[in-house]
Amino acid sequence: MTSGNFKIGVLVSGRGTNLQAIIDTIENGELNARIAVVLSNKKDALALERARKKGIETVFLDPRQYAGKKEFDRALARELEARQVDLVCLAGYMRILGPEFIRKFEGKVINIHPSLLPAFPGLDVQQQALDYGVKFSGCTVHFVNEEVDAGPVILQAVVPVHPSDNAETLAERILIQEHLIYPRAIQMIVENRLHIENRKVSYKESVSQ
Ligand code: GRF
Repeated sequence: MTSGNFKIGVLVSGRGTNLQAIIDTIENGELNARIAVVLSNKKDALALERARKKGIETVFLDPRQYAGKKEFDRALARELEARQVDLVCLAGYMRILGPEFIRKFEGKVINIHPSLLPAFPGLDVQQQALDYGVKFSGCTVHFVNEEVDAGPVILQAVVPVHPSDNAETLAERILIQEHLIYPRAIQMIVENRLHIENRKVSYKESVSQ
């Protein structure tokens, strides 16, 4: 695959700083991929604005227009299939993808989560970490499977938790690392460097494309 031919679909719901990191890393030449489409379930997601500014195609799918979750997921899948994306990146996408979607894109959906999984899956993760009293937290890029926040781990980064932290300050510190490891993990997939066995991801030497 030649540089930039690898097509990504990004799913968003919110402010899109991870999307921005992906865009910036593509622009600075460290990620050899192209964002084919940014899909959102929220019309006013700032992430859509970030994509439009860069001339990236955006699609808003309104969940209320569909009979149920399955139908919504099918519409999402159609948009991604129409653009023949090689990888689906969840970047602050706040809906859970159903099993039908996951099976259709098996091994091709990844997510970034703001904790060191398997610690603190779900929501309000930074608060969970503070309440538990951990001294380190971080973020995880993982493959998405049918269980929430439980797929094979691709990359993680660690940050210290300071006694003075609140959920916001901890989130900010983690976010800096998210923006580094998410594009890096995508580039590893572009280079076909990941091998999964018994849910364990190992790294191969770069395979010529
Ligand atoms: C990030 O903390 C990410 O780990 C989590 O949702 C947040 C999205 O932030 N899945 P942004 O929309 O990328 O700024």
